[in-house]
Amino acid sequence: MRAFDGCGARTRFVQDEGIPYLVNEFWTARQRGGHALHEISYRACFKAELPEFFISRLTAPGEAVCDPFMGRGTTLVQAALQGRRPVGNDINPLSVMLTRPRLAPPPLKDIERRLAEVPWREGEIEREDLLVFYHPETLRQLCALRRRLLARPRLDPADDWIRMVALNRLTGHSPGFFSVYSLPPNQAVSVEAQRKINEKRRQTPPPRDAPALILRKSRKLLSEGAPPPHPPAQLGVGDAWRLGFVADASIKLVVTSPPFLDVVQYASDNWLRC
Ligand SMILES: C[S@@+](CC[C@H](N)C(=O)[O-])C[C@H]1O[C@@H](n2cnc3c(N)ncnc32)[C@H](O)[C@@H]1O
Repeated sequence: MRAFDGCGARTRFVQDEGIPYLVNEFWTARQRGGHALHEISYRACFKAELPEFFISRLTAPGEAVCDPFMGRGTTLVQAALQGRRPVGNDINPLSVMLTRPRLAPPPLKDIERRLAEVPWREGEIEREDLLVFYHPETLRQLCALRRRLLARPRLDPADDWIRMVALNRLTGHSPGFFSVYSLPPNQAVSVEAQRKINEKRRQTPPPRDAPALILRKSRKLLSEGAPPPHPPAQLGVGDAWRLGFVADASIKLVVTSPPFLDVVQYASDNWLRC
């Protein structure tokens, strides 16, 4: 094994019962600085430096890197950024929505053009209870976008991208999100809990400009460019132990983090995005 000094203190290699271990402090706050495309929130995601560490050392460009519990797709996006084939799966279809658009992002001008085509003012509020999060005008915009996306027979890359960004701007603590002050969209609170937050903070949802926020976040995500050409991705939705779409012996490396089932409630955390 070769020495690796990229993490501050020199890495030591030790052998224990024939297994080599790398000993150092990895992925500390100082070292965190992944590509801008990773900046999508997801509960219990890992930092991009973790898959980057193993992809760089254990695979060559063109080889397949897999995460059977892909979450927001950190392993897959990193694999694409390094010219590898991204292969991923998650039991929640939300994961494909969050990952696929970033593997081959559309140009910003296509996103801008598509946003201009959405009839933002024609939305009709479909769920009054969501007014605890959103100003009526903002909720109308979100309903207009949702209706338009549902009506498209097939989402093209610009639609797919806009849906991903919108899912990530649904709730949060700053004016960069569509909602009044709330928890981020990967830990969305219930309607009842949001009512209590509003009472405690004496707040009512202010109007937000949804298309402007989507464009702003898109600019940030794309600020360091797109992945280089890489073999086409394979994405699945289902149980991790049934990756029928992946050919035997086709994967060079797996970088994954199984669910923390007794700690994180993925379904309720993501209820609003789902
Ligand atoms: C710790 S998260 C993975 C986060 C990922 N490493 C990232 O950086 O975003 C675990 C994931 O496992 C998914 N999951 C839970 N049960 C699953 C199952 N039976 N098969 C596939 N995925 C499952 C959850 O939806 C969640 O996205």
